[in-house]
Amino acid sequence: MQDLITAKVHDESRQGEAYAPFANDINDYNKKFYIESYGCQMNFSDSEIVASILQGEGFGATRNYEEADLIFLNTCSIREKAEQTVRKRLTEFKKIKQAKPSLLVGVLGCMAERLKSKFLEEEKLVDIVVGPDAYRTLPVLIDGAESGQKSVNVLLSREETYADISPVRLDSNGVTAFISIMRGCNNMCTFCVVPFTRGRERSRDVDSILNEARQLFEQGYREVTLLGQNVDSYYYVPDSLSSMSNEEFTPVTFAKLLEKVAQISPELRVRFSTSHPKDITDEVLFTMAKYENICNYIHLPLQSGSTRILQLMNRTYTREWYTAKVKRIREIIPDCGISSDIIAGFCTETNEDHAGTLSVMESSAYDMSYMFFYSERPGTLAARRYADDVPEEIKKSRLKEIVELQNRLSYNSNKKDVGKTFKVLIEGNSKKSDADWMGRNSQNKVIVFPKENYNFQKGDYTMVRVNDFTQATLIGEVVNV
Ligand code: SAH
Ligand code: SF4
Ligand code: F3S
Repeated sequence: MQDLITAKVHDESRQGEAYAPFANDINDYNKKFYIESYGCQMNFSDSEIVASILQGEGFGATRNYEEADLIFLNTCSIREKAEQTVRKRLTEFKKIKQAKPSLLVGVLGCMAERLKSKFLEEEKLVDIVVGPDAYRTLPVLIDGAESGQKSVNVLLSREETYADISPVRLDSNGVTAFISIMRGCNNMCTFCVVPFTRGRERSRDVDSILNEARQLFEQGYREVTLLGQNVDSYYYVPDSLSSMSNEEFTPVTFAKLLEKVAQISPELRVRFSTSHPKDITDEVLFTMAKYENICNYIHLPLQSGSTRILQLMNRTYTREWYTAKVKRIREIIPDCGISSDIIAGFCTETNEDHAGTLSVMESSAYDMSYMFFYSERPGTLAARRYADDVPEEIKKSRLKEIVELQNRLSYNSNKKDVGKTFKVLIEGNSKKSDADWMGRNSQNKVIVFPKENYNFQKGDYTMVRVNDFTQATLIGEVVNV
């Protein structure tokens, strides 16, 4: 059963540009690692921390797993399907390992955390299992595995944020980058495995975030996305010993952090993900409105439009609270793009609950949504408390209706953009043609437009007027304004 359906199936942003981080000096490293990431942006961002730690140990990155001495899968447990994908991939790597016994295979991330040493019993050819908070111990674990031990570290931490580790950018387009600002989640939505795989919420040192953003800007990056499971609860109290002034001693909220990142340069775009409807504040919305370079786009997962289901999910807001939040966003930032996550067929969901989801989607007029079937995850509160009692066919038919509605909403949203002119940050060539550029507007929509004779580089901003659209992409042309 396909469990992830997005209205925008082909996202141009995932095109990558075959940009290897150490393409020139790969031969300086005597050992090579290959890493593949699954799941959320946080996992992709963690892989860049892992790459940095491995680089320090003399491992260079390779894109070709056949030449690797070490293969890592950074895994996701969010839905059963995500875990199945990883298991399938592991069987492929096992074949390679049989032919090359010195090869080490490691499992990182949320699935490693969920299954712990059970992984080694279930998947005999896995040598290393490391949870999201234990990457600093990779050098010791790799040494152990090289001398034939099975190496496991799945300890979760209350403090670890990898603040001092400078990520090695993998698969980067050189224009946009992720910055992890916090880890873990304290929310305990009943369907969700994340609090168990990523542990308690903690916020990263504000100075290390600002330094990373500044460094990226100096390297030519023009957009940073601040990452956390619930960015609105970012809260950092600077250490009194290292603080030089009272200003630095003041606690930093998410709104304050956004402002500080935005002030690095008006040429640096700032995005963030994910917001929780219960926590996003007016202060954040006003900060977004105040700075042109903070993008007008909010990912605000609804999950369900039924208050009864939201309660069972422990989302701590009602349908009315959610719709009021959307209204507030549109009041303060009239042209804000809004997207959502929706789960179809949560425990006890009735047709009426489902109709409630469709009506909130309609009134929110989402530009885009990620839509899923409910997938029961072992150990979660929902798995312990409620029966997964919505039959698969009903989950499927409800999901189909949700997807159809989102397709219509996305169509309407794109249609409204025809004739409008947007400031676009160029990310690279369009996937389909080197004669076209691909970029995004502030609302996070992908726009493709012909290069013509303009002398643009990726990382440049330009004004583009939209003339047409497909389901996932706006199509336009450069205008001089
Ligand atoms: N922290 C983010 C989302 C993390 S997971 C937030 O709070 O919104 C991304 C999305 O996966 C969730 O928003 C939810 O829609 C979906 N998801 C999580 N657990 C799921 C499950 N057990 N079955 C189906 N979808 C799930
Ligand atoms: Fe999971 Fe809820 Fe935390 Fe998001 S906010 S990671 S859905 S528990
Ligand atoms: Fe998956 Fe873990 Fe992210 S479960 S969605 S990789 S936090």
